Amino acid sequence: MENSAQNIKSVAKNQDFFADNDWYKNLQGELELYQFIAKSAAHETANARRLLDIGNGGVFIFPIAHIPEVEAIDIFVEEDFKMRYPTVKWSQMSALDMRFDEPFDTAIAINTLHHVIGDTVKATYANLDKIMSEVSRNLEPNGRFVLLESTVPAWFIAPYKLVFALLVRFWPLKHPPTFQFYFRDILGAAERAGLVLEEFCWIPKTSDFMSMGFRLKPWMSPIQMGKFIFVKKP
Ligand SMILES: C[S@@+](CC[C@H](N)C(=O)[O-])C[C@H]1O[C@@H](n2cnc3c(N)ncnc32)[C@H](O)[C@@H]1O
Repeated sequence: MENSAQNIKSVAKNQDFFADNDWYKNLQGELELYQFIAKSAAHETANARRLLDIGNGGVFIFPIAHIPEVEAIDIFVEEDFKMRYPTVKWSQMSALDMRFDEPFDTAIAINTLHHVIGDTVKATYANLDKIMSEVSRNLEPNGRFVLLESTVPAWFIAPYKLVFALLVRFWPLKHPPTFQFYFRDILGAAERAGLVLEEFCWIPKTSDFMSMGFRLKPWMSPIQMGKFIFVKKP
């Protein structure tokens, strides 16, 4: 991907892991945490007229039939996405470099940000800033960014930062390497991009969840799912 600072191994692994991944899609429907995420997404897109889904992966976990225009992007787009959702305009595009004919009134990203890693911690934070500025640039004035994103506490991220670059180089799993942000990192990047926080809350972690290609019990990882609603400054 030109202009992208995404780690090259991560791009390939995202495609390999998420393409045709029925395990992921089925568990999403089954586990309560993802049902809560789906309800939030449905509620927050209820009044959308022109929606962009960033890092869609071929799955809409919320209704879109009522939305007149829906575009969806991912670093891979498969033929069956188009067959399952024929009214959606699909583009193979990176969140790091998004170009559209018209701006959107609503953009949504569900569990996408932590997949857009760089080779280093610094590059990964640069990607977070870049995504926020790309979202902001592609929203109408007063447009909304609905971000449903897995985060980690500050105490967890400090040691993870120390080993991250090495870990990415020798990544052993089929699941792509990820970097989950501390929620204040997300708030800061959004603010720098001219996105004003309207609402922030946690989604209850009341069920098992998926991480690194495994189904985990809630106590096995400190991740917390955040719902962030940002509005583009007019
Ligand atoms: C955990 S999946 C989430 C998929 C979907 N949003 C959902 O909630 O089920 C992360 C998605 O982000 C996509 N992704 C990774 N890097 C991306 C990038 N630079 N731009 C857009 N999407 C990306 C992956 O290919 C994958 O489909």
